[in-house]
Amino acid sequence: MILLGIETSCDETAAALVKDGTTILSSVVSSQIHVHHPYGGVVPELASRKHIEAIVPVVDQAMEEAGIPKSRIDGIAVTQGPGLVGALLVGFSFAKAYAYSQEIPWIGVDHLDGHVNSVFLETDPPPFPYVVLLASGGHTAIYFVRDYIDIELMGQTRDDAAGEAFDKVSNMLELGYPGGPLIGRMAEKGNPNRIKFPRAYLTKSDFDFSFSGIKTAVNRYIQTHPDSYHAQIPDIVAGFQEAVVDVLSFKIIQAAQVKKCEHIAMVGGVAANGRLREKVSKAAKQKGIETHIPSIQLCGDNAAMIAAVGYHHLRKGRVSGWDDDVYSRKRNS
Ligand code: KG4
Ligand code: ZN
Repeated sequence: MILLGIETSCDETAAALVKDGTTILSSVVSSQIHVHHPYGGVVPELASRKHIEAIVPVVDQAMEEAGIPKSRIDGIAVTQGPGLVGALLVGFSFAKAYAYSQEIPWIGVDHLDGHVNSVFLETDPPPFPYVVLLASGGHTAIYFVRDYIDIELMGQTRDDAAGEAFDKVSNMLELGYPGGPLIGRMAEKGNPNRIKFPRAYLTKSDFDFSFSGIKTAVNRYIQTHPDSYHAQIPDIVAGFQEAVVDVLSFKIIQAAQVKKCEHIAMVGGVAANGRLREKVSKAAKQKGIETHIPSIQLCGDNAAMIAAVGYHHLRKGRVSGWDDDVYSRKRNS
């Protein structure tokens, strides 16, 4: 079964062709970073307009790169939510119209289920059941995964997402948007142990997160060192990153132990972070747990992961209706 995946939930217009939920035939991601960069974050109205401009060329490019004519597509999977409503509507309406005109089935899927399923596009996916840490710009959560679409929430952030904390700290230090990759690179030049920022484990036995305290602590450090903080930016971001990574790695390994899983996964934009990948893999190995992390391109938003999860719904005969609509907030909060 060859599916066309479409993703427009935030600031990436993406289309992909995926065979049987595992093999990527093409994956095109058109980023709007340059559009939002001057504002230090995503401007929803601009995002919607850019999706409208990009959606047709991006889908055409995905078809061309895969060498697949329209007639070979068996169905469409599209992100239904959560995300920016105006942005989601562009992809969702496109998918609906496309499915109608081609008389093929279509399914709206959850963006977070997409991230969780991104590991199945790699050659070494985890066996079921496993626990997964999803850390992105809008969400930070741990799930227990029994099957591709049987995904149980174990805990989530009570305030900021991990990626959001990276973006906000980057903004405070005027490093640019998105903050994650910039901080990741800058942190390599700093000492992670010189400035200690708080680690919010909340209770050590649950899997909820809080990242607003650490963000405030970085802000306070900047305020109390107005003349010297500029020269300390590498140490500040290295200390900040280390605190976030410590909490994320502690919780995912704890979750694996509670669920007696020998396999964990990490997905979402923040899973591209080099220090997080290194620390979690090492800590897990010491406990006899194997870590599965997608390649960097599959950590960020893409449409291949949407097609991957859509495949499992369509295979079970689930399809969306013509009057279905998008949703902005996650369903299981
Ligand atoms: O999954 P994603 O592409 O979009 C959402 O669904 O939110 O994640 C984007 C987030 C941004 O907050 C970005 O700063 C963060 O992922 N990010 C990183 C890195 N690369 C992207 N955070 C830390 N280190 C990175 N290398
Ligand atoms: Zn995402």
